[in-house]
Amino acid sequence: MGLLEVRSGDLVIFTEVTKTFALGAASFTAIKDVTLRVRRGDIVILLGPSGCGKSTLLNLTAGLIAPTHGQVLYAGRPMDGLNASVAYMTQADHLFPWRTVAGNVGVPLEIAGVSRAQRTARVAELLALVGLSDFASSYPNQLSGGMRKRAALARLLAADRETLLLDEPFGALDAQLRLTLQVELLQVCRALNKTVLFVTHDIEEAAALADVCVVFQGLPGTIAKVIENPLPKDRDLRALRFDPRHHAFTNELWAMLTPDLAVPPASSAAQMH
Ligand SMILES: Nc1ncnc2c1ncn2[C@@H]1O[C@H](COP(=O)(O)OP(=O)(O)O)[C@@H](O)[C@H]1O
Ligand SMILES: [Mg+2]
Repeated sequence: MGLLEVRSGDLVIFTEVTKTFALGAASFTAIKDVTLRVRRGDIVILLGPSGCGKSTLLNLTAGLIAPTHGQVLYAGRPMDGLNASVAYMTQADHLFPWRTVAGNVGVPLEIAGVSRAQRTARVAELLALVGLSDFASSYPNQLSGGMRKRAALARLLAADRETLLLDEPFGALDAQLRLTLQVELLQVCRALNKTVLFVTHDIEEAAALADVCVVFQGLPGTIAKVIENPLPKDRDLRALRFDPRHHAFTNELWAMLTPDLAVPPASSAAQMH
């Protein structure tokens, strides 16, 4: 196995990672030979069709499962059990229905033994950050889908870990609300200098949020291509639809994932005249 050398700025390194699950007497390989470098402070999107091993990669990063072959390094060290440097938002938001929004957001602080006074202050800050200050005393069943996602995000940030693992966090929301939450996520992650591994199967979402987009394909899942966003980190998501660099990036992703649906280069405006 040729291990990737660790460069300054690297946070997670996967080298030739294969994960095989035992299924009774049979076995199933979810990802095969995944080699990937995640730089500190980057938003890395894992993009690909359902079942190609995206969540498996998050589980490996969280230390919930170990690779069958290959190696995962976190901050230069081989992973050994649960990774205390990550906060993980799985596909379901798992808010506690019997606790208020503030009570839910405070859970990681309670677990960490933070005093009640400090907790109250920190929860207020986090709720302000995600625009939920007026709903601190509401219960999850009184919130809209977007507000629930915001509450789950605030709780994720309460854990104050350097790396966020987000598994299709905005999956079930309408397009406008998604954009709002994407804008907020980007602002928050930049302000707090988080490293993010974000799973989606949505090409437009990937093109907006990715500093780096990792395109998965196939069963077992392998990395088809790693593509850097041509736009700078301080891009304004609300202006993307006017930016030709964004169009090129989006189209490159379409071409990788759904070649039949991508716009061929021959139909560019210049050639239509
Ligand atoms: N703990 C597990 N045991 C057995 N099979 C699993 C387990 N976790 C994932 N898989 C299988 O691995 C494949 C990849 O799953 P997953 O990583 O969830 O894909 P994705 O997130 O891209 O949809 C799927 O076929 C899934 O059923
Ligand atoms: Mg998944």
